[in-house]
Amino acid sequence: MSRSVKTAATLLLGLLIAYASGQRSMAQTYGLGSPTNGKEIAAWNIDVGPDGVGLPIGQGTSQTGEPVFLEKCAVCHGDFGEGVGRFRALIGEKSSLTSDRPIKSVGGYWPYATTLWDYINRAMPFGNAQSLTSDEVYAVSAYILAMNDIITEDEVMNAQTLPKVKMPNRDGFIFARGTDIKAITCMKNCVDKVTITSRALGNKGVPAKP
Ligand code: HEC
Repeated sequence: MSRSVKTAATLLLGLLIAYASGQRSMAQTYGLGSPTNGKEIAAWNIDVGPDGVGLPIGQGTSQTGEPVFLEKCAVCHGDFGEGVGRFRALIGEKSSLTSDRPIKSVGGYWPYATTLWDYINRAMPFGNAQSLTSDEVYAVSAYILAMNDIITEDEVMNAQTLPKVKMPNRDGFIFARGTDIKAITCMKNCVDKVTITSRALGNKGVPAKP
């Protein structure tokens, strides 16, 4: 083997060894490429569907939820879910949706009670998310539903009963399918002037005029 070929081969081998050990130390430092395990997947897999699939064992009533809510939620959402400052109210009426200033509250807008469980379980209390037990999540969900007059104070919420709760706005949603949306492009005899006939919101507190 000629000298230059030998040098090139040695160099290549050196590079390969450096690359391989670099890969190894990167894996050691950052844990890149390490196989996941069931525990890690379970920690992410916490979604609850409208039909209640994903709800864990546990239960609570509005009565057991009240002290938890007062201690962990009321500072932002108010003792009765009325909202404090700019933090959201958790109570509301469906009738608000057709007003000039619709408020999309849990009580008046959310179609499924199971979404309430999912939301609280994954994101609340704000700043200390996922610190509640399953029982506590069922209980504060019950408290919020009772404050909205959707269930009674002693109704037990668990994986079987929560999906059966019918939220006031359950049927207020429509699915926009391709055939429902007809975009007609105007090429001739088009309207000269477009008039705005209504607005979703009133302007500065003045109700919207159609
Ligand atoms: C430090 C303030 C704070 C605390 C404490 C807190 N929340 Fe919230 N909450 C928020 C904020 C902020 C949002 C809106 C978050 C967003 O839109 O991303 C929110 C949103 C919500 C919503 C969704 C409301 C909607 O209409 O979109 C629910 C339900 C809720 N919180 C329940 C709770 C419950 C139950 C607790 C107690 C276990 C709690 N929160 C504690 C600040 C708080």
